[in-house]
Amino acid sequence: MISMKRRCAPNGATKSNENGKSKEQQLDAFTDPNVPLLTTDQGLPIPDNHNSLKAGPRGPTLLEDFILREKITHFDHERIPERVVNARGSGAHGVFKPYKSMVQYTSAGFLQDPAIETPVFVRFSALTGQAGSADTVRDVRGFAVKFYTQQGNYDLVGSNVPVFYIQDAIKFPDLIHALKAEPHNGMPQATSAHDTFWDFATLMPEATHMLMWTMSDRAIPRSLRMMEGFGVHAFRFVNAQGVSHFVKFHWKPKLGVHSLAWDEAQKLAGKDPDFHRRDLWEAIDSGNFPEWELGVQIVDEGKESELGIDILDPTKLIPESQVPVQLIGKLTLNRNPNNFFAETEQVAFHPGHLVPGIDFSNDPLLQGRLFSYTDTQLSRLGGSNFHELPINRGVCPMHNFQRDGVHRMTIPNGRVAYEPNTLANGTEFRMDGAAQGFQSYPEQIDPPKVRGRCPSFDDHFSQATLFWNSQTKAEKDHIVAAFRFELSKVEVPEIRQRMVDNLAHVDIKLATRVSLSLGAGPPDVKAAAGRLGFRNHRVANKVESDRALSMTSKAGATIKTRKVAVLVADGIEPATFKQIVSDLTRAGAVCKVVGLHLGTVSTASGKQLPVDHTFCNMPSIMFDAVLIPGGAQSAAAMCAMGSAVHFVMEAYKHCKTICALNEGVQLLASLGLTAGKNTDLVVLPVAGVLVADARRVLDGQISLDFIAAIAQHRHWDRTGVDAVAA
Ligand code: HEM
Repeated sequence: MISMKRRCAPNGATKSNENGKSKEQQLDAFTDPNVPLLTTDQGLPIPDNHNSLKAGPRGPTLLEDFILREKITHFDHERIPERVVNARGSGAHGVFKPYKSMVQYTSAGFLQDPAIETPVFVRFSALTGQAGSADTVRDVRGFAVKFYTQQGNYDLVGSNVPVFYIQDAIKFPDLIHALKAEPHNGMPQATSAHDTFWDFATLMPEATHMLMWTMSDRAIPRSLRMMEGFGVHAFRFVNAQGVSHFVKFHWKPKLGVHSLAWDEAQKLAGKDPDFHRRDLWEAIDSGNFPEWELGVQIVDEGKESELGIDILDPTKLIPESQVPVQLIGKLTLNRNPNNFFAETEQVAFHPGHLVPGIDFSNDPLLQGRLFSYTDTQLSRLGGSNFHELPINRGVCPMHNFQRDGVHRMTIPNGRVAYEPNTLANGTEFRMDGAAQGFQSYPEQIDPPKVRGRCPSFDDHFSQATLFWNSQTKAEKDHIVAAFRFELSKVEVPEIRQRMVDNLAHVDIKLATRVSLSLGAGPPDVKAAAGRLGFRNHRVANKVESDRALSMTSKAGATIKTRKVAVLVADGIEPATFKQIVSDLTRAGAVCKVVGLHLGTVSTASGKQLPVDHTFCNMPSIMFDAVLIPGGAQSAAAMCAMGSAVHFVMEAYKHCKTICALNEGVQLLASLGLTAGKNTDLVVLPVAGVLVADARRVLDGQISLDFIAAIAQHRHWDRTGVDAVAA
């Protein structure tokens, strides 16, 4: 088969795994050959792809037209069921390399040698919406990584929030039924802002900690490249001597952790529903490969009781200030898929895809997941052979006596499909397990069967309080605003009140602030505590607050791949901004010229400057910062352009960095940000709003200031944004 060259990003980071066949070579063998000819599925050349076979040019179409029938039949069956959850997703290929050997803790082969690169496929997703829903909705994001190791595929199927809504898998169908669109009318799409979700969530106080995360800005990431990932559950590392440690997995993005503003996220859902997918694709396509470091929190077996939480409870995290995260390797996404369906849609993750040296814990949510994924994939991917799909195939040798089934691709040899046997190669083949292969950790278990929960799972609020205490003022304001927004969409007042009462167990000021805009009564701690199912055996947190829980501690200092809009109109003074644009570009930002129309604008000296985007097709919500160059004529023109004024006002409202040069300051006057008149305008001191005259441009100071301000991402402490009508 002649294979088409795979889509490979610049500087071609597609190395093979030194231990064997690379994933890429394997995918190549299945990639469509570039044949300059149309054929049927059987290889018959098609003479005419525009006309079906008819009884005369004006006569009926003939049933015997097998070419027409084959084409339409295939089309009729193109769709497969979307994932029952996490349906909306985007994927990419990449590689993982450990920084050091983890042999002390685990025998997992891919974590032994910093020289070995393991191919990976990653799929990011949103939990709630359907496959066609918008990217920027408020939701937890899935972060699923498939490592194609030489000991088989290892899947780390996590999310961008370190805890989950529920403690036991038996509640998962109820949670998802409450969260997804309501069944009678199919609304609303991809959001928790409706009655059934909050009805369920308020009756399940164990959800409160996760609610704090999903009402925080973590649930509206700026980019999939700028969010953390978490394995959520406790897993085990097991070393060659059989010694086990509990481990919690983390992914730390090299670009820092950043979010959108809520108003921005909602507008983006309409203006560009593919905002995150496009951002990931464009970054990889342009060679800006996203990177995360793999982190682990390791807890000695037997010492977990000292943590102050039950390590098996998925609604709890281990504060980083209690057990530091060790960074042990790096994930780089360096190649976009060739085909969305064949790769991103058909990939099948499963928390039970393990390698020797990594094992589960008894977390009851994880235990249910171990059943659910293969089960659902049997219907989503149509049978038991989906592990043979190219994206799901391991890169190491595979052999067993599983046989047949729909769409079997491997052709087994010989007459033997059982074990033990003497007929295959004439020798007895038997593997008794002791010496080779995956060994389940032999944990001592001798309890009575019980359908119930451990009392150590009954503390539902202390970590919600810890999360709240760890936020900055701006982050707290955003959480309050999110609760108010979501609950204001709830029609039944009793449900709103229940949430306010539950929040009183997190923090009374939070509960009071939320209640104020809802027309709810004051928070009532006792009403919440009296409800069926309410368990609040509050355990004192070992730490009062934890810096790592605030996004501001993870901002990073880079402006790499940040988008800066340079606003232009006829009469623009290019000399004032060219230097800044070149400084920003050198620092890794992406600058785009935005004007009223495509084509060019005339500069003050009569030259033509190409325009990349319009105010309408790339509004401010698609940028991270704004540069308003000088030029008296262009500044005056933009002041009279509603779309330009709106652009700046909206960027201001969303707390983005704005820099105006010379006469460009006039545009800031439209925001009421200036004092004085006409050319004497002075900008009022506002976080992230910068001005400069030609001298500061020339000495390079304004570029440095601008870069530093963009690196802060958003100026959340900017005051007065609520008053901006944008
Ligand atoms: C900590 C809690 C959980 C996390 C972090 C999580 C994460 C994920 C992720 C990332 C995906 C998307 C996989 C992909 O990209 O293809 C997914 C899919 C899915 N999850 Fe979970 N999940 C959690 C809990 C559960 C539970 C408790 C169940 C069921 C008992 C469950 C059932 C499913 C199912 C059925 C899918 C669709 C899989 C497919 O169709 O391929 N999840 N989950």
